[in-house]
Amino acid sequence: MKKLAVFVSGGGTNLQAIIDAVAAGTLTNVEIAAVFSSSRKAYALERAANAGIPGFCFVPKEYETREAFTDAMLVKLAELQIDMIALAGYMVVLDPKVVEAYQNRVVNIHPSLIPAFCGKGNYGIHVHENALARGVKLAGATTHLIDCGTDTGPIVMQKAIPVLDDDTPETLQKRVMKECEHIILPQTLQLLADERLVVEGPCVRILPE
Ligand code: GAR
Repeated sequence: MKKLAVFVSGGGTNLQAIIDAVAAGTLTNVEIAAVFSSSRKAYALERAANAGIPGFCFVPKEYETREAFTDAMLVKLAELQIDMIALAGYMVVLDPKVVEAYQNRVVNIHPSLIPAFCGKGNYGIHVHENALARGVKLAGATTHLIDCGTDTGPIVMQKAIPVLDDDTPETLQKRVMKECEHIILPQTLQLLADERLVVEGPCVRILPE
């Protein structure tokens, strides 16, 4: 059984999808051992509490330095003996120290088909605003392993859906979450927990079952 920490900053629908997948038995070999929030107000913390999962707040601005913030998280991760991390709507860039300590064991969910609409400034609703402004016909989500860049790590899974003529950023965001993110994030965590991801340079190969 792999111990998972889920990092959140906001609403936590992706956290909920992981909680539900574990409860339904569609995500196995994973124990959600902790939720780490970068905000004390995140609704995701309530979702964690409702599911009986310990929640911890590590808020960057409450620390004197960025290093102190990172070190505090690393100490807690070690104490909890965390094996893998899911960034589920986490709006803080992870320090290279964390990336190194958990190399190829941190999964991020991004609400676009990377390399479209990713990197600096492309997060949350802005991704969908930018996609609609560009007139794309397909939207979707991507899971990838974390490296030291922003949304640049090796891609694990992608799922696409059509953009509808009357989509607004909000309606598109909602469908991408429900039909893409909430499906591929638990699936990716299953692959990671089962040690089926092989990183080959910038790419990931998925081993057969
Ligand atoms: C999700 O759409 C997630 O993909 C996105 O923020 C939202 C969080 O929703 N993440 C990013 O944009 C990261 N670059 P949630 O809190 O309901 O899971």
